[in-house]
Amino acid sequence: MHAVTKPMPVPFLDLTTQYKELETEWLAAIRETGNRGSFVLGPHVQAFEKEFAEVVGVKHAIGVANGTDSLYLSLRALGIGPGDEVITTPFTFFASAETIDMVGATPVFADILPDSFCLDPASVRAKITARTKAILPVHIFGHPAEMGEIMEIARKHKLTVVEDCAQAFGATHNGKVVGAMGDAGSFSFYPTKVLGCYGDGGMITTNRDDLNEHIRRLRNHGASKPFIHVEIGMNSRLDEIQAALLRLKLKRIKADIAGRQQVAAEYTQRLAGSAVKTPSLPKNGTHAFNLYTVRIPKKRDAVRQALTDAQIGTSQCYPQGLHLQDVYKKLGYQPGSLPACEHASTETLSLPIYPGMPLGHIERVCEVLLTAVKGG
Ligand SMILES: Cc1ncc(COP(=O)(O)O)c(C=O)c1O
Repeated sequence: MHAVTKPMPVPFLDLTTQYKELETEWLAAIRETGNRGSFVLGPHVQAFEKEFAEVVGVKHAIGVANGTDSLYLSLRALGIGPGDEVITTPFTFFASAETIDMVGATPVFADILPDSFCLDPASVRAKITARTKAILPVHIFGHPAEMGEIMEIARKHKLTVVEDCAQAFGATHNGKVVGAMGDAGSFSFYPTKVLGCYGDGGMITTNRDDLNEHIRRLRNHGASKPFIHVEIGMNSRLDEIQAALLRLKLKRIKADIAGRQQVAAEYTQRLAGSAVKTPSLPKNGTHAFNLYTVRIPKKRDAVRQALTDAQIGTSQCYPQGLHLQDVYKKLGYQPGSLPACEHASTETLSLPIYPGMPLGHIERVCEVLLTAVKGG
């Protein structure tokens, strides 16, 4: 008689276990907020902005509605608009480039480094023109971008820098936390992020007093005081119940990031010596491991299918460089324009990762992955 092996589904992400741990305290904060009757930009938001600025090591943190608005508002406040070019990476979530278009400027895509998947400073240098106004590096998957070199390029060419930190809360580079190095840092609190809420939210960090003042005005309809509007802004505000939750999560974030790094280390150890290329660690900093993205030369799609058949969740970040997407046909890039990005798109696969992921699940992912990689 054959032993019946039970399938072991492995979700890509489990948000409910952490919710259960926070439920009592968060529901108490929601009740307290309801009884106070202050729901938007109230005391929790103000306290969270202060606590967030302290953790990142910046003067100001401004809560907004989501990570897309935080990029858009940073670019707006920096005065970037029609006729300007902003250099960014094509290997990112669409919002990084979309917001450049939203302010009326043109995204210019530079290539990436094959190990970190972040912007290649040499490619950035080659893309600078008289119209370049800013660089928008993305700390992709939680790996910090080459901020030392990027800031040097920016200083030399008098460009501003907006760091897209949506996937990298807590990652560090040369002793600084991401979001503390550029003119502005942009964060998303989408539930899947390293510091995620249970809805939408975002934050902008800056050391510049002028940007702080301008962004606070822009997020609230360009109002300098109640009902007095000095420019066209928008409604992009963080609400109290998300800020209350984020304050609770911020208290435990160090342990959460350490938990992600622990899962990453377990994977890397088990996959060593195989054809799977595990994520590189930053030379002068730390990785926040929002995503654990491996490269699987030649067989990525077959391996992904084997994982799906075994009920293991994966994600393909990113299947197509933004420069080749239909929406950016107008910019004239061709296949082969940005080879490192295009090569990465054919090989990358993101595996399940979250703090507290059971060891048995990590082992199961590696078992199926290694068998599929070895198979025909
Ligand atoms: C790199 C990057 N930038 C920006 C965003 C946009 O953030 P949000 O979904 O909060 O608008 C995301 C979200 O997925 C992201 O991954």
